[in-house]
Amino acid sequence: VSETIESLDLRALIAQQREGYSLAQPFYQSPAIFEFERAGWLRRQWFILAHGSEVGRSAYIIRELLGESIILARDDAGTVRGFFNVCRHRGSRICDADGRGNALVCPYHAWSYRFDGSLRSAAALPDGVDRAGLGLKSISLTEVGGLILGSLQGAPQDSARLDSILAAGLRYHGIDAARVAARRSYPTKGNWKLVAENFVECYHCMVAHPEYSSVMSHVEVLARPASEAAKAAFQQSVDQWWEKDADQGSPVARIPDNYRISSCAALRGPIGGGRLTQSEDGRPVAALMGNQTRFDGGFALFRCEPFVYLAALNDHAVMFQFTPQSAERTDVTVSWLVADTVADSDLDLSRLTWLWDVTTVEDKALVERNAKGVASIAYEPGPYTELEALPARFVSRYLEEMKADLDGRKGPPASGN
Ligand code: FES
Ligand SMILES: [Fe+2]
Repeated sequence: VSETIESLDLRALIAQQREGYSLAQPFYQSPAIFEFERAGWLRRQWFILAHGSEVGRSAYIIRELLGESIILARDDAGTVRGFFNVCRHRGSRICDADGRGNALVCPYHAWSYRFDGSLRSAAALPDGVDRAGLGLKSISLTEVGGLILGSLQGAPQDSARLDSILAAGLRYHGIDAARVAARRSYPTKGNWKLVAENFVECYHCMVAHPEYSSVMSHVEVLARPASEAAKAAFQQSVDQWWEKDADQGSPVARIPDNYRISSCAALRGPIGGGRLTQSEDGRPVAALMGNQTRFDGGFALFRCEPFVYLAALNDHAVMFQFTPQSAERTDVTVSWLVADTVADSDLDLSRLTWLWDVTTVEDKALVERNAKGVASIAYEPGPYTELEALPARFVSRYLEEMKADLDGRKGPPASGN
C-alpha cells in the first residue's frame, strides 16, 4: 500500500495531536511523512557534518546528508565549502572518496571544478554556453568553532545565529584546535524523532544509564521528581561550583536554575562528586583543551536542537551526529575529540570513550525497543512528564512547523496511486 500525505491526512493527524503527548504512530513510521519531512522540514535543519580537522587545506571529504552525497572542500585560504556531489555536465557523481588537490574532476568527461565550486575546465564546451552558471550547487555551510555545520537549505540568518551562540565558547574550550581521537557509529532502528526525544530527556537516566547516573550529579534532579529540599541542595552545589571552582575565563554561561535549557544554547555546569572529567574514575583522560588552565570539573554543553550537540569536558569533547536515513532508521555517530597536540600514545581510548560509548549503546537499545512498541496496533500517544519538558517542547515545535509546511504547499496535491 503506497500511502501519501493526503491519504494519511497529515493535516488531521497534526490537528488531533494532544498537547503534551507523544506523537501518533504515523509520525514514527510512515515513509510518506518521512519523505515530506525530507523534502521540507529536515532540509532546513542544521547538522554536524564533520569536525573541521577532518578537512585539511586543499583537501575534500565526502559526507552524506538526507540521502544526498555532499563534498566538503577547504580552499587554500582555509574556507570550507559544501557542494552537492553532482556534475553540472550530465549529472554524474563526481567524487567517490575523500581526496586532496586543487580541483574536483568528474570521472565521466573530465569537467573540473575549483574548491569554490566554479567550473575550471570543460573540454569542447561550446563558446556560447555560460560557464559562470555551471558551478557546483552549494549547500548552506558554516564552520563554527571547529564544527562544520551544514544544511541542505538552511537560511544564512540561522547560521549567523548558530555562530553567535556557539562559536566563542567552542573556541575557548579548544574545539577548533582539536582532532578526532575516536569515532563509533550506532546505527539505530528507530525514527529520528525517537532518537531526538531520547537524547534530550534524562527521565530514563536512572532506569537505563547506571554509568551516566554514577558520573553526573544532575541526574539527582533530572531523572526523578525531586523534593524541594533536594532541588535546593543541588542548586546550592551548582552555585558553589560557579563561584568557587568554575573557570571564570570561559564565555560559556552557567546552566540556568532548574535546567530550563533553551533549544539553542551554550551552557556550563559541574559534573559533581569531585570528578574532573567524565571518566569512570573521574580522573583526567587527556591534556587540557583550549584556553583552560586548570581542571574545574565542569562540562560545557553546546546544543541546537534537534541535531547539533557537543559536550566539552576539560580534557576531551564528545561530538554527536544524528542522520535520519528512513522512517525507521537513524544513524548515530559519536566522536571523541582531544587537543590536536595530544598524541595517540598519550591516550587510553577505552578510558576516553567509556561513558558515551556505554550510554549510546544503551540509548540505541532503548530507542529500538521504543520503535517496536510504537509499531504495535496497541500504541497510542502517552503523556510526557515534567521531566520530559524538552521532548514535549520539541514535539510541539515540530508539529507547528510541519503544519506551516503543509499550509505552504503549492499547487494541487500530486495526482496518482
Ligand atoms: S557528467 Fe561530469 S563531465 Fe560529464
Ligand atoms: Fe539516554
